[in-house]
Amino acid sequence: MKNRKNSEIINWAADLLSSKDIENPRFDSEYIISHVLGMSRLELNLHQEDNVTENNFALIQSMVSRRGKHEPLQYILSETEFYGCKIKVTENVLIPRPETELLVEKIIIENPCVKTILEIGTGSGAIAIALAKGLKSPEITATDISEDAIKVAEINALENNADIIFIVSDIFENVKGKFDLIVSNPPYISDDEYKKLAREIREFEPRDALLAKDNGLYFYKKILEKAKEYLTDKGKIYFEISYNLAGKIKKFANDNGYKKIEVFKDLNGFDRMMRIE
Ligand SMILES: C[S@@+](CC[C@H](N)C(=O)[O-])C[C@H]1O[C@@H](n2cnc3c(N)ncnc32)[C@H](O)[C@@H]1O
Repeated sequence: MKNRKNSEIINWAADLLSSKDIENPRFDSEYIISHVLGMSRLELNLHQEDNVTENNFALIQSMVSRRGKHEPLQYILSETEFYGCKIKVTENVLIPRPETELLVEKIIIENPCVKTILEIGTGSGAIAIALAKGLKSPEITATDISEDAIKVAEINALENNADIIFIVSDIFENVKGKFDLIVSNPPYISDDEYKKLAREIREFEPRDALLAKDNGLYFYKKILEKAKEYLTDKGKIYFEISYNLAGKIKKFANDNGYKKIEVFKDLNGFDRMMRIE
């Protein structure tokens, strides 16, 4: 049996990923290898001369091969981090994005005492779970049209000790009651934009979590049309939005009687969040 040192495996993996046009081949290789070996990247680099067992090498090979086919690291490792919470991800849920952490942060800062929250399109449950952790005992209901996504969200809530009611629902269909706050990061990619997305997204993330009819506006319109029935008197809606949709959503909200509308930018200066009252 050939002994393989960590350093040799890192180089082998980085070369292979580089030949497959992976953007950060060395980082991804170290990430996979340190994950399999149960150590941090720093520890991996401090243990370059250690040998890797055959079993671990087989696992590393299979993960590196998946990454070589452009599968996102988060799906390969079955987890990601969101707002300090470990979130399990499968092919049935969108990988929660760092931009969405800004939405969570904004809601927590602006609504420290909010009681009842509805999330539409919870996916992995990341937003609902982060709000449950960051706010003082809120009552959170989270929905998704995908039963498979709700199963993942339920596991994530359990593992993060977050008390959330999950409902399978087409937008508001199975939702009852009124809420102080409705939050949604709905699908908002148009057909044309979808064709231009990276392979990592197009080939691996669920289409129904990304694509929206009406040039990306479908879910914003559906939610705004019905939300008043589900909001308490001073209730608010928070959306994550695409950088190019703020004007159109604002106009639709105005036309539908919403008066106070504010748009917020992400760290790159793109319109990314909206608060509607
Ligand atoms: C962009 S993903 C957001 C996932 C998660 N909230 C996040 O921020 O990472 C949109 C989610 O909406 C769900 N969805 C799609 N159509 C829906 C519908 N008609 N009703 C409810 N949820 C829907 C998708 O299954 C997906 O989980």
